[in-house]
Amino acid sequence: MRMWWFITILAITAFICNFPAYAYDNNPLQDICVAVNDSQASVFMNGKMCKDPKLATANDFYFSGLNVSGNEVPGFGISAKIVGVNNMPGLNTLGISLGRADLEPQRIVPLHTHPRATEMITILEGTVYAGFLLPDPANFFKSRLFSKILNPGDVFVFPIGLIHFQYNMGNKKATCLFYFNSQNPGLLLIPNSIFASKPPVPDDVLAKGFQLNKTQIAQLRKKFS
Ligand SMILES: *[C@@H]1O[C@H](CO)[C@@H](O)[C@H](O)[C@H]1NC(C)=O
Ligand SMILES: *[C@@H]1O[C@H](CO)[C@@H](O)[C@H](O)[C@H]1NC(C)=O
Ligand SMILES: *[C@@H]1O[C@H](CO)[C@@H](O)[C@H](O)[C@H]1NC(C)=O
Repeated sequence: MRMWWFITILAITAFICNFPAYAYDNNPLQDICVAVNDSQASVFMNGKMCKDPKLATANDFYFSGLNVSGNEVPGFGISAKIVGVNNMPGLNTLGISLGRADLEPQRIVPLHTHPRATEMITILEGTVYAGFLLPDPANFFKSRLFSKILNPGDVFVFPIGLIHFQYNMGNKKATCLFYFNSQNPGLLLIPNSIFASKPPVPDDVLAKGFQLNKTQIAQLRKKFS
């Protein structure tokens, strides 16, 4: 009986807390909300401050340059370019963003999550092995891997918050476009978050958590520092 009360209250609290607490990409309450940094030129706030709609121009809703690859992420063999609210201010509050990634052969976008967005990718060039991990609701110590080998024209979706990866398994460059249902999807690279935090997660915590010894943890830290 007690247990049921506890679960019911937990469920109600989770429900209430889920409601207004997050700055989610809500359905906008206005047609447009072009982001500005200048509070003097703004009218109301929802995500970022909005430009007075009378001052909005077509360029606020325009981006050019996905025909070329983005900046290389040093050491990863990945180039990425994001079309987000910072370079397309008209995206503000619309709950969407887009990017282009170019992966060198045999390189990987390591296990990562986007805490605020579902991601869809479509391959333009090359062959990419992509997958995500779904926790098993019947056994939290296990998960299921959903994965596919993707060729040009293929589309794959990574559900919101789930850990996923993209690996260029081919021997030429792979290019893909990726879409998020958020203007600010967030990015959490699992290995780097764990092994390159500041201050570091204590050795004991990592060694026990990963069932490794401290020498092995030190080796992993070195790779991600
Ligand atoms: C990419 O597109 C821009 C804008 O249309 C154009 O100026 C540029 O020449 C294009 N670059 C390539 C490599 O196609
Ligand atoms: C607002 O400021 C950020 C951070 O300084 C910058 O990256 C962005 O380009 C600016 N956005 C606009 C619309 O001016
Ligand atoms: C840590 O584990 C590795 C691999 O099992 C082993 O070779 C090494 O001797 C261990 N080091 C220590 C300090 O226990």
